Amino acid sequence: MKQKTFLNKGSAVAAIDIGSSKIVCLLGQVQDEFGHIEIVGHGYRASEGIKNGTVIDLAAAENAVREAVHVAENAAADRLKGYPLRDVVVSVSACHCYSSFIEATVDVSAGGVSRKDINRGLVKAQRSVLDTQDAELIHTIPAAFWLDGNGGISDPIGMNGEELNMNIHMVMGNPSGIRNLAQSVKRSHLDISALCVDSYASGLSCLVDDEKDLGSILIDMGAGVTSFSVFQAGRMLLTDYVPMGGAHVTNDIAQGLTTSFAEAERLKTLYGNAMASSSDTHDMIEVMQMGDDNEMHANHVPRSVLVGIIQPRMEEIFEQLRAKLADNGVTEAIGRRVVLVGGASQMPGCRDLANYVLDKQVRLGKPIGIQALPKELNTPAFATVAGLFPYLGSHANEMPAEIMERGDTRSLWQKTKLWLQENW
Ligand SMILES: Nc1ncnc2c1ncn2[C@@H]1O[C@H](COP(=O)(O)OP(=O)(O)OP(=O)(O)O)[C@@H](O)[C@H]1O
Ligand SMILES: [Mg+2]
Repeated sequence: MKQKTFLNKGSAVAAIDIGSSKIVCLLGQVQDEFGHIEIVGHGYRASEGIKNGTVIDLAAAENAVREAVHVAENAAADRLKGYPLRDVVVSVSACHCYSSFIEATVDVSAGGVSRKDINRGLVKAQRSVLDTQDAELIHTIPAAFWLDGNGGISDPIGMNGEELNMNIHMVMGNPSGIRNLAQSVKRSHLDISALCVDSYASGLSCLVDDEKDLGSILIDMGAGVTSFSVFQAGRMLLTDYVPMGGAHVTNDIAQGLTTSFAEAERLKTLYGNAMASSSDTHDMIEVMQMGDDNEMHANHVPRSVLVGIIQPRMEEIFEQLRAKLADNGVTEAIGRRVVLVGGASQMPGCRDLANYVLDKQVRLGKPIGIQALPKELNTPAFATVAGLFPYLGSHANEMPAEIMERGDTRSLWQKTKLWLQENW
């Protein structure tokens, strides 16, 4: 059954992905009471002040966010005339987040398990976290239910019993990283309604329903961070990351071939491959020397040298991912299938290397089924931003502040929003 959203039909909403290499803003309009949002404008630009998913220069980051929002506002000016922009959902890099699992038990109301019963359990879990940990709450997702000790229940609504036990997946955030991210949106005069882990949003935009239901791992290879989310039974069960991405590959090339970052980026996208092939030794590529744009002074190196720099770093990323999955107990049963997205996944050979190192069935993904997504955003690099409206529109029951509000525990709700109040 579709749940009604907290968004008002016709209202204007925004989604912002603050990445290490680019900042993207989508503006949308809520189409109906079920949270369908149509994209009516977009803007993006290169990031500034963000490195490896973290704000390192607040003024530069604020400025870059404002510019991306401004471009989107201009593009959507006609469609959104007279509709004030209210709700904004912002991505959070997985490098500021961690998964935590909390149990909660509630008495079942007369007449069977209701949404209110589940919400009471979620409020209880959030309260215990807020009371004991210095963390921001990002997502509160019920992962498993037991009714009077009987497990294997995917949706207990309407079922009869006395005691409902829940295992809840809470995604928590490190306060300082998140507050700085929120602060970078402040100058755009937008109020943040929800935060969403980047790889979760990417999963919402790029996985098909069967992948979310039967079990899969979404890997988002960005510039500074490679994040992942594990899905099963339609829910996100885990998120984690490896602190490396495409920018590390580019840095290795710049150092290895003693050239500039921009030239290394050009060589990577034009001639790069994540796996060596026999023809690489015969193909020669031209490498401009640092600070010298005279082609006469360029070095000529076999392509195998370039691939020989790229492959070890890409392997290292996948090896660390494999270790993280094993550490987190992601078993074969859940994660046989991998979907790769993010700008860095576009490297030729990436799928084969992932398949080899992770020993899993891998496909390359990009956003699917997103209403009115502009063609230029329909690539793996825009997976996160494309999933932010589906999250805002259809996942209010996983948003900590919404859960508190529905539970009518205002003081706690205010506590959840504390970081917003402190900063806005
Ligand atoms: N065709 C390509 N081949 C290889 N790498 C590519 C290609 N196109 C883009 N990239 C790399 O993708 C990376 C950017 O990816 P993306 O836009 O997903 O990052 P981001 O979301 O800004 O960063 P993050 O999520 O890490 O904060 C850059 O390192 C870039 O070099
Ligand atoms: Mg990203």
